[in-house]
Amino acid sequence: MKKLRIGIIGTGGIANSHVGSYLRMDDVEVVAGADIIPGKARAFLDRHGLTDAKAFEDTQTMLDTMNLDAVSVCTYNTAHAVCAIAAMKAGCHVLLEKPMTVTLADALDIRRTEKETGRILTVGFQPRYDGRMQKIKEVIQSGRLGKIYYIQTGGGRRRGIPGGTFIEKDLAGVGALADIGCYSLDMVLNAIGYPKPLTVSAVSYDYFGKNPKYTPEKDAKRFSVDDFCGAFIRLEGGITLDFRMSWAMHMDTTGNTIFLGTDAGLKVEPANVGTAWGGAWDGSCGDITLFHDDFGEMTCTPIPLHDNKEDRFFLKCRAFVDAVEQGLPAPIPTSQIIYNQAIIDGIIRSSACGHEVNIEIEEI
Ligand SMILES: NC(=O)c1ccc[n+]([C@@H]2O[C@H](COP(=O)([O-])OP(=O)(O)OC[C@H]3O[C@@H](n4cnc5c(N)ncnc54)[C@H](O)[C@@H]3O)[C@@H](O)[C@H]2O)c1
Repeated sequence: MKKLRIGIIGTGGIANSHVGSYLRMDDVEVVAGADIIPGKARAFLDRHGLTDAKAFEDTQTMLDTMNLDAVSVCTYNTAHAVCAIAAMKAGCHVLLEKPMTVTLADALDIRRTEKETGRILTVGFQPRYDGRMQKIKEVIQSGRLGKIYYIQTGGGRRRGIPGGTFIEKDLAGVGALADIGCYSLDMVLNAIGYPKPLTVSAVSYDYFGKNPKYTPEKDAKRFSVDDFCGAFIRLEGGITLDFRMSWAMHMDTTGNTIFLGTDAGLKVEPANVGTAWGGAWDGSCGDITLFHDDFGEMTCTPIPLHDNKEDRFFLKCRAFVDAVEQGLPAPIPTSQIIYNQAIIDGIIRSSACGHEVNIEIEEI
């Protein structure tokens, strides 16, 4: 069988998990990598033992010359759209790292190109492959909660500001909101079937990132994104979403995720609360409990959770490869994630203008 020819765009930190996963598969080969930093792609490929793979400093040259079937786009956020679009135009299917983009306009450009080229583009939300996240969706989708009308979610790192390319607006575009915020949005929106977002009123802050008391001085000087945000989002179907996201704060958690329904409620507790980096909904969670009435009494039922123990990063790459090989739909499709991105875009706009904004999403 012909092996799938894969290229990596952006050979930084997360690209390691992509290549590590592809190396476990017999039906694919990583044949090239590109990074704009001179020498970085070569060193990366060599480190993974891929000495025959070709290294590029220009992504377009790699796409034009390597006859690739698929790419992983692992650049910082602001380069996601340009690289994903170029790859699809060159005939490649794309596994795009999260968040999909920074702006809704860029996400729509990706979706348009996907439709025009007929390529598959999936977004890299590996928590989707965690057994606990799947259990939350199973409970919600069972209909046991009745009509769901109010959701609260968010993530609460107490002191977890990353460095590198995550803290500069030109590179990351947004901070905690998109870095880990996209996960908690995906957890609840995926569970309820991704209803369309309608309006958002949001605030964002950067008190910790810019303060050398909490952030190394060299990072504090270039910190230009959010380290905390909060938002009140109206979704289609009369559902309200109350969302908070933190990279740093003087608190152990921004609270549980809760789903309120007319027949029952579901509480999902965050994991590793109290630790500096705990509390983000990046695929881990604490206990989940169903609140309901039985025999006329208020009661609650703990829902057992099982970690499926398989490497979520591997499962995300495997699902992408299966979709490409078998002509299946994208496992985590842009038709859903466009709503995740529209909320992030709305939060950025509302925080900047200081009032509620409408979310309008062009149908593509
Ligand atoms: N799924 C996850 O768990 C997870 C974890 C970490 C990061 N990420 C996401 O992965 C992306 C990258 O994060 P990272 O930590 O690897 O960042 P990084 O800064 O370590 O790596 C990004 C690389 O992309 C390169 N690059 C930028 N523009 C490029 C272009 N046009 N062509 C080729 N290379 C280009 C940069 O030079 C850099 O080497 C981000 O979007 C981040 O949100 C996802």
